[in-house]
Amino acid sequence: MGGKDTAGESVYESTNPARPGEVVARVGLADAAAFAAACRTAKEAQREWAKVPAPVRGRVIASIGRLVEANAESLARLVTREIGKPYAEALGEVREIVDTCDFFLGEGRRLYGQTVPSEMPDKNLFTFRNPVGVAAVITAGNFPVAVPSWYLVPALLCGNAVVWKPAEYAAASAEAMYRLFAASGLPDGVLNVVFADGAQTFAGLELALEEGSVHKVGFTGSSEVGRKVGELAGRHLQSACLELGGKNPMVIMPDAELDLAVEGALFSGFGTAGQRCTSLGTVIVHESVHDEFVERFARAAREARIGDPEQDVLAGPLLDQKFADRYEEYLTWIQPHHQVVSGSTGKITKDNPRGDFDGDGGLYYHPVIVDGVRPGDRLFLEETFGPIVGVTTFTSLDEAVELANRPGYGLSSSIYTTDPKHAFRFREGISAGMVSVNNSTSGAEAHLPFGGNGKSGNGSRQSGVWVLDQFTRWQAMNWDFSGRLQKAQMDVAEIVPDLEFRL
Ligand code: UN1
Repeated sequence: MGGKDTAGESVYESTNPARPGEVVARVGLADAAAFAAACRTAKEAQREWAKVPAPVRGRVIASIGRLVEANAESLARLVTREIGKPYAEALGEVREIVDTCDFFLGEGRRLYGQTVPSEMPDKNLFTFRNPVGVAAVITAGNFPVAVPSWYLVPALLCGNAVVWKPAEYAAASAEAMYRLFAASGLPDGVLNVVFADGAQTFAGLELALEEGSVHKVGFTGSSEVGRKVGELAGRHLQSACLELGGKNPMVIMPDAELDLAVEGALFSGFGTAGQRCTSLGTVIVHESVHDEFVERFARAAREARIGDPEQDVLAGPLLDQKFADRYEEYLTWIQPHHQVVSGSTGKITKDNPRGDFDGDGGLYYHPVIVDGVRPGDRLFLEETFGPIVGVTTFTSLDEAVELANRPGYGLSSSIYTTDPKHAFRFREGISAGMVSVNNSTSGAEAHLPFGGNGKSGNGSRQSGVWVLDQFTRWQAMNWDFSGRLQKAQMDVAEIVPDLEFRL
């Protein structure tokens, strides 16, 4: 088996959120020293891996893609069992790994540098992409396999070694993903998985950065933790690749096709139980269509099927108990000036059922639509990871853009309109890294730049060719074959113009 993982002392149990009594995986949690040791192992292995020609590394990525494709159903089933993502979505998530591999297997034969003319004769200039070294990658568990692949695949392709710290509540999915990667023949130590809690990971990362055995940090998670990770990396003169939270707006213009907008709002708000970083935060609807939209959206939410993620449902349970606890806190942000238009709120239980579904003891929650949200409200300003969507109104497109930007995140956004002018004005004004027109806020494709601004990230971009700048550093080379010392800017031929010339 290629790669290496480390076991620790304390044991963590990852459970099925649809049946919290059911343990899906037991893993040992490592301490800071073990995290740093994994980074040293990676550093050692990276030297040889970088020497493997990029097209050959591309073949390894091709093998990973094939292995994932051949195991798609069992991996998706495991994701569903461990984090409660509906099976169809879990299959889509696995597909995203294959898409990522498909893109990067070819990059192994490109990874282009340039030849550049010199200002002096008999001299050539070149640029090369060099791997950064060791990438420490810390990921969330809402996309327990696809989002890690956005880091792992390009990092490995570019000749880096990786230490991956997955979310412990998605340990079984991470372990399965690791085994699929290892089966591709990756040399020992090139990919390392470490399970650890947040505090030990942070301390281990600090140690490794001090020792010089981590050269790039990738982090997907909350803005709050991202700030700390970014700060730590910055102290070591590194810029982390940060993919953080979102408060993603959806603007609905008076000319929008309302049924389409309702379908988009339902999926982006409550699909994945609202637990994507790209999930819908606030619907900003034109006052002239507000009542009609809210009525249809509320009806759709009331009728949406929440339940067993192995069945055909809009959403399953929340990811894990800690997300359920945090979500219950967001529900307390609902104020007297708000109107809940979606029916029941809170956990689905025998006393608070959803039709004939009593929650079966799982972490299931009613989807919640809160109308009358105001720009000063916490519900308007802060990310609320989970099935809750706010609604507010506007009168002009400029006001809608200003409202959409106000929370200070900038990951994804959406506008429903039939007027191209509105779509392009919105695109220009919105601070988000992603803009959807007549589509949900979620559902980015694997070969477009993915990432945010403001509280959603530091401008780093994943996916497609753009992520290559995260995992390589440009090296500029010059080669003088004139046989003498030609000094740049000094020994340069001059062609004298007549700048006084006029017609
Ligand atoms: C995330 O929630 O961290 O665009 C990523 C989407 C998915 C990725 C979400 N492809 O919604």
